[in-house]
Amino acid sequence: MQQADQSGLRDAGRGGTGEGDVFDLAAEISRRLIARDGEIYPLPDPHRVEAELDLTPPRRSQPMEAVSDRLWRLLERTPNTSGKRYFNQLFAGRDDAALLGELLTVVANNSMYTFKAAGAQILAERALLRHMGSKVGWADCDGAFTPGGSMSNYAAMLVARDAALPGVREHGFDGRPLAMYTSAESHYSIRKNAGMLGLGRDSVRFIEADADGRMRVDALRDALDRDQRAGVTPVMIVATAGTTVQGAFDPIRPIAQVARERGVWLHVDGAFGGTLLLSPKRRHTLDGCELADSFTWDAHKMMGVPLTCSVALFRNRALLQRSLDESATYLFQRDDDDYNPGVRSLQCGRRNDALKLWTAWQRHGDEGYEARVERQFALADHAVRVIEADPQLTLVKRPQSINVCFEVAGADARQVSDLLDREGRLKVSHGAVDGRPTIRLVCANPDLSTADIDEFFAEIRWAASQLRRV
Ligand SMILES: Cc1ncc(COP(=O)(O)O)c(C=O)c1O
Repeated sequence: MQQADQSGLRDAGRGGTGEGDVFDLAAEISRRLIARDGEIYPLPDPHRVEAELDLTPPRRSQPMEAVSDRLWRLLERTPNTSGKRYFNQLFAGRDDAALLGELLTVVANNSMYTFKAAGAQILAERALLRHMGSKVGWADCDGAFTPGGSMSNYAAMLVARDAALPGVREHGFDGRPLAMYTSAESHYSIRKNAGMLGLGRDSVRFIEADADGRMRVDALRDALDRDQRAGVTPVMIVATAGTTVQGAFDPIRPIAQVARERGVWLHVDGAFGGTLLLSPKRRHTLDGCELADSFTWDAHKMMGVPLTCSVALFRNRALLQRSLDESATYLFQRDDDDYNPGVRSLQCGRRNDALKLWTAWQRHGDEGYEARVERQFALADHAVRVIEADPQLTLVKRPQSINVCFEVAGADARQVSDLLDREGRLKVSHGAVDGRPTIRLVCANPDLSTADIDEFFAEIRWAASQLRRV
């Protein structure tokens, strides 16, 4: 590993101030980071890293070159998420057009509460919300960018709460028992948000999933019936479009039918799988999503936009503002609230998470994104073929999207994942399917080749052979 005194950052370009020019320094460090795309930094002991780096803010000011040296030392001890060996989460890779938008977001540094403060950037954000809403199937919808899928789910749960319990926003809860319904495979943010919203974590009913990891609609009906008989008020149903471990899609149309019959809010958590709406060939996987009341969609997952980039979309235009609006005359001074997204936002000061998605979408267009989804699926298909051809490997479930969960004979998935991480060979996560630990390969990076997937499996076999020896 390179140390600070060898970093060479002092030779980076200089601006007129005699200090390092910030853009030259950033370009130099970025080039170094990108040059490491093929590597994974072996996961060290955090105490060792802390001892190697001097992280406490100093008393005296430092020259820029000293700051950038320290910054490089820190970044080189950071896992690389963009290269050929990163399969750990639901995001991977690097998109140049998105990066351009993100870098300039920081340079411009506008806050997205009002048109007065952010000008044309507000219009770009609105254009994206409209476009994404149209992909869900809504000609005229509302929405907001939030700091991630968990927060988009939070915004949807908040609006659903206010719709189900009139007066709760002003006066608080009246003590009646409540319930929310989501599949046993749904993301943990649903339960966490129920706690944060005062709905109660225990009021979440986890509905059994079928053999493919999809919510069972008959079990959903049974749970609603049980609660109705007990006088419990249903607040919302959350269907998941792309579950976190298996990448499974709940059957949205029949769930929407149940929601309609009972007059209950339906939210679709498409944080992971919403991007399938960009592929006409895959759209049927979310059939019926236009019947939902709200929809979460993360662009920082399958669309490859830097973290964080997520939207909460709402079919009814009025409700988000009704739940979030506050009068603040020191802020909302020009009165066309349509152009002041602060009145529909969880935050006050808010960075622009839309610009990077806007530049990426300008670059790729709808067609480019469709091709990207197809490449992700082609890599997952290839992975399935490799597994099926190798008697050491067992496919746990046939993938519904780009997550491929498998087991390795004679080696525990958790130990395989840990060993590869410790040795700096690969980052891949594990997750339980039907209670069994499995390796979860996520084919989120469309810039990989099938040879990279073959290399991934070579590493898995290496780790398994090491573990079998002990
Ligand atoms: C289905 C689903 N919903 C929500 C989230 C939360 O997204 P974020 O990490 O952006 O908060 C995730 C994250 O993995 C997810 O898989």
